[in-house]
Amino acid sequence: MTPFVTIQNLTKRYPPRNGKGEGILAVKNLSLTIERGEIFSLLGPNGAGKTTTINMMSGLLEPTSGEVIIGGYAITKNPLAVKKLIGVVPQEIALYPELSARANLEFFGKLQGLRGEELAKRCDEVLEFIGLRDRQRERIETFSGGMKRRVNIAVGLLHKPSLVFMDEPTVGVDPQSRRNILEAVKQLNQQGMTVLYTTHYMEEAQELSDRVGIMDHGELIACGKQIDLIQQTKVRDAIVLKFLPEQVAQAQSILRDLPFITDLECEGDLGEKLRILSDHGRQALPHIIRALDDHNLIPSAIQIVEPNLEMVFLQLTGRALRD
Ligand SMILES: Nc1ncnc2c1ncn2[C@@H]1O[C@H](COP(=O)(O)OP(=O)(O)OP(=O)(O)O)[C@@H](O)[C@H]1O
Ligand SMILES: [Mg+2]
Repeated sequence: MTPFVTIQNLTKRYPPRNGKGEGILAVKNLSLTIERGEIFSLLGPNGAGKTTTINMMSGLLEPTSGEVIIGGYAITKNPLAVKKLIGVVPQEIALYPELSARANLEFFGKLQGLRGEELAKRCDEVLEFIGLRDRQRERIETFSGGMKRRVNIAVGLLHKPSLVFMDEPTVGVDPQSRRNILEAVKQLNQQGMTVLYTTHYMEEAQELSDRVGIMDHGELIACGKQIDLIQQTKVRDAIVLKFLPEQVAQAQSILRDLPFITDLECEGDLGEKLRILSDHGRQALPHIIRALDDHNLIPSAIQIVEPNLEMVFLQLTGRALRD
């Protein structure tokens, strides 16, 4: 089946500000597909090129080269047909602060071609969906960060798009609003909406996505199902043991030659933790406990860290996602 979204060799070079030099190559030759009905996350640190990619996909920014095809329409050739299919929730909150939530929705709804009863009905529905129906007459400038984010999301949903782009929709919100937003994304997806979600939070990509594209410095450095990405890169399990700082050296020498252990690293502010890398963390654990016990060395905490997308990023780039 043809994918719902196909991105082919998409590239964006921003022109240099002073007309000199080569400018910034923000997206480099990016290709990927998104299937109808999936939640696809673009995960990457600040400046990776996520917003630039989304802006090219929504027709806001002209690609330097390459093409985006959504629902069979090429964005550069048939932008209006694409715009009917997509809803955009921009990273920067785009609302009129002095207008009420409802007035903002009515304004943006009209821009999207909604009128009369249909507009009123859709405003009611999206306000209900974001849980702000009882606050709809209040001005945006009196709202909390999380409430503004929710209205920002509602704007992108007004015309019932088949595909919604959500660009870091949880930045700057409290944990409860963040939870609400993540649940809303899942609910929209269950109702059949395809979602392209960008984030620099590994946990969000991990919780939401069917497939993940990892971006760094404008390039897609990995793409696929989470489990496949983790397996492909051969990221190992980690077992973290906490000791008194003066016990760590002894623990290290006891554990160094045990089976299943591939590497040992000290960590923690006082070097009080030992990170043990293993291809078979669960098999290694009993050996570790027994060996330590033989020397009367009891760790005060034990944590098994299963491989995750953060580790995939670390292995591919040598950096942590949020450095
Ligand atoms: N309008 C612009 N003009 C020039 N350079 C730009 C412009 N917008 C973005 N850039 C540059 O392009 C690169 C990618 O930026 P982009 O905003 O796409 O990244 P991002 O992944 O969305 O980052 P963040 O997580 O911080 O939102 C960065 O180096 C940025 O400085
Ligand atoms: Mg961005």
